[in-house]
Amino acid sequence: MRIVVTGGAGFIGSNFVRYLLGKYDDLEVVNLDKLTYAGNLENLRDVEDDARYAFVKGDICDAAVVRATLDGADAVVNFAAETHVDRSISGPQDFISTDVLGTHTLLEAVRELDVKRYLQISTDEVYGSTETGSFTEESDLAPSSPYSASKAGGDLQVLAYYRTYGTPVLITRSSNNYGGWQYPEKIIPLFITNAIDDQALPVYGDGLNVRDWLHVEDNCSAVDAVLHEGELGEVYNIGGGNEVRNLALTRRILELLGKGEDLIRYVVDRPGHDRRYSIDCAKVRALGWEPAVDFEDGLERTVAWYRDNPDWWRRLKSGEWREYYAQQYSGLA
Ligand code: NAD
Ligand code: TYD
Repeated sequence: MRIVVTGGAGFIGSNFVRYLLGKYDDLEVVNLDKLTYAGNLENLRDVEDDARYAFVKGDICDAAVVRATLDGADAVVNFAAETHVDRSISGPQDFISTDVLGTHTLLEAVRELDVKRYLQISTDEVYGSTETGSFTEESDLAPSSPYSASKAGGDLQVLAYYRTYGTPVLITRSSNNYGGWQYPEKIIPLFITNAIDDQALPVYGDGLNVRDWLHVEDNCSAVDAVLHEGELGEVYNIGGGNEVRNLALTRRILELLGKGEDLIRYVVDRPGHDRRYSIDCAKVRALGWEPAVDFEDGLERTVAWYRDNPDWWRRLKSGEWREYYAQQYSGLA
């Protein structure tokens, strides 16, 4: 089986490439990635010499590259995206290009080349925020940010291709992932690495927003289950079942690193900040999947990973990252 993984040099994509190569012998994985600021081939150093793995540098918006890479593929898993909400607020254009037009370009190639399975990696953020209850796959889409609106645009195209052309598609919508190899702009790796260096942890607003944390390894096993067992044309929510307020998460990170709460800084809230994400995951559980990583263990392991891999994130926290950080957190003392 030949699987094309797009965005395989990013956080979840690289974990997924490693997961596939570890689990299956008789498979070939092609990683198509543009290597944006978030793409990092260091994430896959341990598998780059594996004969079953190949890397193609390219943009999912480039129809010629996409067609050449997908030719002969049995399945495509599309992780490639612009993914950071704050960056989508300061500059939405790349989100529309990659998350909307890139998805369209992939769908066209899947259709033309008759690829047998296309899995779109989406997010629970497409449902928007809710203070009560949990969204099912049938819930309306009500995205708040340019990021989640772009992802919703991608999802709607995927479902339209199923209805119109019978394109063999699947969608997963996962909650917030955490684990090793996550670019230090999202809250968990940013706060762990800032705390290690005794830098301030900028908490948006009152810190009472809730996110449901899913260990990246659990997401990989769920994506694998949906890719192989999912029903075409269907959407599957994937959540960790760990709804935690940002402030509680921040305090736990500080505790695990033996740092004081004096590092916490309340900063101006994110515009349109979703209060709470919560999804019902009965549908993916019916495929036999369930999360295996306990949140407390997973967070401890994640803190240990960043503590043990300072070269990895220190290289990233330079150049482009520094500019972004200075602009995003200009009010931070
Ligand atoms: P990431 O930002 O770490 O990595 C994105 C990858 O996509 C990078 O390697 C980047 O180089 C590549 N890429 C970006 N634009 C591209 C383009 N035009 N062509 C080819 N490659 C391109 O992202 P992530 O956190 O690993 O997220 C992966 C997917 O999972 C995304 O689709 C995201 O929307 C979704 N998702 C992420 C989370 C999360 O918590 N991180 C939660 C739910 C869903
Ligand atoms: P983030 O990791 O950006 O993921 P998402 O916005 O996709 O859920 O943010 C997670 C939560 O943490 C969200 O409620 C915003 C908050 N947050 C902060 O309080 N400070 C920060 O510096 C960042 C990056 C996020």
